[in-house]
Amino acid sequence: MKVNTAKFVISNSKVEKCLHHDLPEYAFIGRSNVGKSSLINMLTNHKNLAKTSGKPGKTQLINHFIINDSWYLVDLPGYGFAKVPKYQRNAFEKFIEEYFLTRKELICTFLLIDIRHKPQNIDLNFMEFLGSSGVPFSIVFTKADKLKPLQTRKSLDFYKKTMLNGVWQELPDMFITSSENAVGKQELLDHLEKLNINSKNGI
Ligand code: GTP
Ligand code: MG
Repeated sequence: MKVNTAKFVISNSKVEKCLHHDLPEYAFIGRSNVGKSSLINMLTNHKNLAKTSGKPGKTQLINHFIINDSWYLVDLPGYGFAKVPKYQRNAFEKFIEEYFLTRKELICTFLLIDIRHKPQNIDLNFMEFLGSSGVPFSIVFTKADKLKPLQTRKSLDFYKKTMLNGVWQELPDMFITSSENAVGKQELLDHLEKLNINSKNGI
C-alpha cells in the first residue's frame, strides 16, 4: 500500500467522545517512549503529524488520523511511565483499557515493543489483557536501528520463546521496524492493506 494522504482528525481525552465511523481503525499502543508517534510519522511520510518527544509521556490524548481517506490510525498515550504519580497512572491506564474494551471500529491493535529490551511484565500483561478481552493484536518491534542484525534476531527469538513458555500457544504477527531508517515500513503497510481488504469483505 502507498500512503497518499494522512490527516490529523481530532484529539480526545474521553473514549466516549471519539468519533464513530464505519472505516477500519488501527491503534498503536505500548510503553511510553517506545516510538508509537514516530512510527505513525514514518508510515505516513511525515515528520510531525504525530507529536514525538525524547521525554516519555508526550502523547496524552487519543489522536485520530485518517489515511487515504479510507482508514484510521490512532495514536494513544503510552503506559508504564514511572514519573506519573500512581493515582494518575491508574486513571490513565483505565482510560486506555476503556478504549480497547469499547471501541467497535478497532480492527487490530499494534503493540509496540523496544527490540533492545528483554520481555517486560508490563508488556506481557498488556498482551494478556488484549487476548482475554478478545482484541486482535500484532507486535511491532521498534528501534531496530539500535541493534546489529544478529542481536535483533536473538532478541526476537527470545521474545517468541518467552511468549510460548508463558500463556501463548500461538504467536501473533510480528514486525521489526525502525522509524529512523524506515525498516519494516512496506511490510507493515502491506499488512494493513490486507487487513483493510479483509475487513471490507467481512473476514
Ligand atoms: P509517548 O507518546 O510518550 O508514549 O511516546 P511514543 O511511544 O509516542 O514515542 P515517540 O514516538 O515520541 O518516540 C520517543 C523517542 O524515541 C523519540 O526521541 C524518538 O525520536 C525515538 N524513536 C522512536 N522511534 C525510533 C526508532 O525507530 N529508532 C530510534 N533510534 N529512535 C526512535
Ligand atoms: Mg506518542
